[in-house]
Amino acid sequence: PVEQRITNLLQQMTLEEKVGQLNQYSGRELTGPASARKNDQLNAIRTGQVGSMLNVKGAQSTREIQAEALKSRLHIPLLFSLDVIHGYKTVFPIPLGEAASWDMDAIRLGAHVAAKEAAAAGIHWTFAPMVDVGRDPRWGRVMEGAGEDTYLGAQIARARVLGFQGEKLGGTDAVMACAKHFAAYGAAIAGRDYNAVDMSLQQLWETYLPPFRAAADAGVATFMNSFNTLNGVPATGNSYLQRDILKGKWQYPGFVVSDWGSIREMVPWGYALDLRDAAQKALTAGSDMDMESDAYHGNLTKLVQAGKVDVALVDEAVRRILRKKFELGLFNDPYKFSSTGREKQVLNDPQNRQAARQVARKSLVLLKNDNQALPLRREWGKLAIIGPLAKAKRDLDGSWVPEADTTLITSVYEGLDQRLDAKTQLLYAKGCEVLGDSRAGFAQAVETAKNADAVVLTVGETWDMSGEAKSRADIHLPGVQEELFQALKATGKPIIVLVFGGRPLIFNTIADQADAILMAWWPGAEGGHALADVLSGDYNPAGKLPITFPRAVGQIPIAYNQQYSTGRPVTKSGDTKYRSAYIDTPNTPRYAFGYGLSYTKFTYSDLQISRPQLAPTETVQVQFTLTNTGSVAGEEVAQLYLHDIVASTVRPLKELKDFQKVLLKPGESKTLTFNITKDKLAFYNQQLAWVAEPGEFQLMVGSASDDIRLTGIVELLP
Ligand code: IFM
Repeated sequence: PVEQRITNLLQQMTLEEKVGQLNQYSGRELTGPASARKNDQLNAIRTGQVGSMLNVKGAQSTREIQAEALKSRLHIPLLFSLDVIHGYKTVFPIPLGEAASWDMDAIRLGAHVAAKEAAAAGIHWTFAPMVDVGRDPRWGRVMEGAGEDTYLGAQIARARVLGFQGEKLGGTDAVMACAKHFAAYGAAIAGRDYNAVDMSLQQLWETYLPPFRAAADAGVATFMNSFNTLNGVPATGNSYLQRDILKGKWQYPGFVVSDWGSIREMVPWGYALDLRDAAQKALTAGSDMDMESDAYHGNLTKLVQAGKVDVALVDEAVRRILRKKFELGLFNDPYKFSSTGREKQVLNDPQNRQAARQVARKSLVLLKNDNQALPLRREWGKLAIIGPLAKAKRDLDGSWVPEADTTLITSVYEGLDQRLDAKTQLLYAKGCEVLGDSRAGFAQAVETAKNADAVVLTVGETWDMSGEAKSRADIHLPGVQEELFQALKATGKPIIVLVFGGRPLIFNTIADQADAILMAWWPGAEGGHALADVLSGDYNPAGKLPITFPRAVGQIPIAYNQQYSTGRPVTKSGDTKYRSAYIDTPNTPRYAFGYGLSYTKFTYSDLQISRPQLAPTETVQVQFTLTNTGSVAGEEVAQLYLHDIVASTVRPLKELKDFQKVLLKPGESKTLTFNITKDKLAFYNQQLAWVAEPGEFQLMVGSASDDIRLTGIVELLP
C-alpha cells in the first residue's frame, strides 16, 4: 500500500512540488532572529519547495517548523536531519575510537543511544555512519570512520546502521542512518580533504565498496555521495557509482543525498558548466536530494520543461524520498518525533552516560606498558598529572558534537581525583599548550614531577585538529609536547602518557622512552572516568588499533593490507640494500593494525586445521586454544589473516578475514574456531570478477597484524 499511496501523491503533485521534495536546506537561522534567509526558507517550506531540513534540532523547534511544512498544499512533512556522529547530547568516543573496541555490541549501543537522544529531539535522520575506509592518517576525517580495514569496516558499518535504525524504521527511539561518502572519499590524494581520487576498479570493489554494501545489506535508509572525484568523475555526478552499482547491481531502495554543496562544486571541479548543468548531471547520475546547493530548486523544473531531464527521473527520486517519510510514519503523525516531554526524559537518562563510559573504556588502546607501569601502583602516594589536556573538557569530545553539553564532561584530572584513594595526593601542572612553542610552563611541570612518585602526562590534538577540513601534512604531536615529555623524563620518574586525538599521531620519543602509553582518542564526555577505570586497574584495557600508526609521514600509505612482498623484499637478516626499503626509516610502522596490549598475557596454541584442502563448496575449520596466562581477567581480540600465495594478481601479505573478542579469567583457556569458506579466499581479478583461485593460502592467527602466533596452509582445490 505504501507504493500505491506514493503513486497517488505523485499524481497530485505539480512539477515544482516534486522538485521541492528533492531540496534540502540548512536551517540554522530558521529558529533565530528575523533575517532574509529565514524569511525565504519559511516561504519555501510553506509552499512545498523543501523536502528536508538539516541543522534544525530540538522537539520544540522541529515541531514549529513541521507545522509550517504542513501548511503547504499537500501537507507533506519534512525530514529533519543532523550530523549525529558519536552522540547527540551524551558524547561517546569518536567513531575511530569506538572502532578500536572491535566490539560490535558496544558500537551498536553507542549508535543506539545517539539515535534515541536525537530522535527524542525531533531528528529523523543522521548523516552517519561514515563507512569510508580511511588509510591515510593525514586525512582529518579518519576520526569519523572505522579505520583502514575493509572487513572490520564492514562489520562496524552493519553494527552502526542497526544501532541507529533498529531492525525497522518508524520507532521513536531510532533514526534513519546514512552510509557516507559514496564512494572512495577516504582515498583523497595526499590525504587532503575534498581532493581527487584515482584508483583501480579492483581496489574500489575490493577495499572501498564492501562497507557500503554491508550498510545497504543492513537496511541503511540513505546514502550520501561525496566531494571527491573518482577516476575523473565527481562522485555526485557519477552514474557508475550511483546508478550502475548502488541502484542497479545492488538494487538499493533508499535515496541518495548529495554532500553539502557537492552538486554546485561540480562547477569549480570543471565537470559542469554552471549550476543548471550541475543539476542536470547530478540528477541524471542518481543524486536524489540536493543538500544546500540550491541547484535542483532553481533549475530542475526548467530542465524537465526543456526536455533535458526526463520527468521519470524526478518521479523516481521523489518516490525514494517519500517512501522513507512513509516508513518513518510521518504521514500518520508528522510530530511523532517532536515531543518535549520525551526529549526531557531521554536526554537526562543517566543510563546514557553509563553507556558512554562503558564504550569509552573499550575504546582505549594500551600501546606500551614497560615494567608494569600500569595499573597505577598503590604505593605511589603522590601522582602528578601534567600536560595541556589534563583539565581539558571540550577537547575530550572531539569534533562533530551537535548538542553536547560541555558541563557534563569529566576531565582526566577530575576522573582521577574522584578515583584515587584519600591517601594519594594529586599534583597538577599544565606544562604547555597543545599548539605553540612556549616552554614557559616547563619549569613548574618539572618541579611538580620531582615532587611526585609518578607522572601521568596528557598530550595530543585539540578537538578541532581532526575532522572535516582538518587534513594535516605533519602528524607529529603538535607544539612542544614531546619536548615537555623529555624534560619530565629527565626527572627519572615513571611516566605514563595519555595520547588524545582523532587520528594516528607520530611521537617517536615518547614511544621509545615512556613507561606506558594509552591511546585515548577523543573519548567523549565520560572520558575522564573511563581513563580512571583503566589507569586504576578497575578495567583491563582491550582495545586494538583499527589503523596503523606510522613512524614517519613519508611512510604513508602504510596500511597493513597495502603491504606486498614486492620482487625485492627486505631479507630475513634485515639487509635492505637494493631492497624495497627506505634508507632512513624502517618499513615497519610504529604501531601496527590490530595491535593493543592488556594487563594480562594471552598464549595461542594447538592450531588444528580441519582439512588441509577444501573444495569450492566446503568449509575449513581453523581451531586453536587461547589461554589467559596472567593474573587478571582480560579480553583478547584474536585475529585471522590470510595470504593468497600465488594468484593472477599479486595479493597483499595479510588481509583480515575474521576476529573474535573473548573474555578469559586468569588461567582460563578457550577453544576458538574460525571458518574459512571460498568467499574468504576470493578477490577481484583483472576482469573485475570475484574469484577464488585454486592454490595455497597461508593462514595466520594472532594478536595483531604484526604479532602472528600460529600459521598454517590451506589449499583451495579446483
Ligand atoms: O554530513 C556532512 C558530511 O559528512 C560533510 N559535509 C557536510 C555534511 C552535512 O553536515
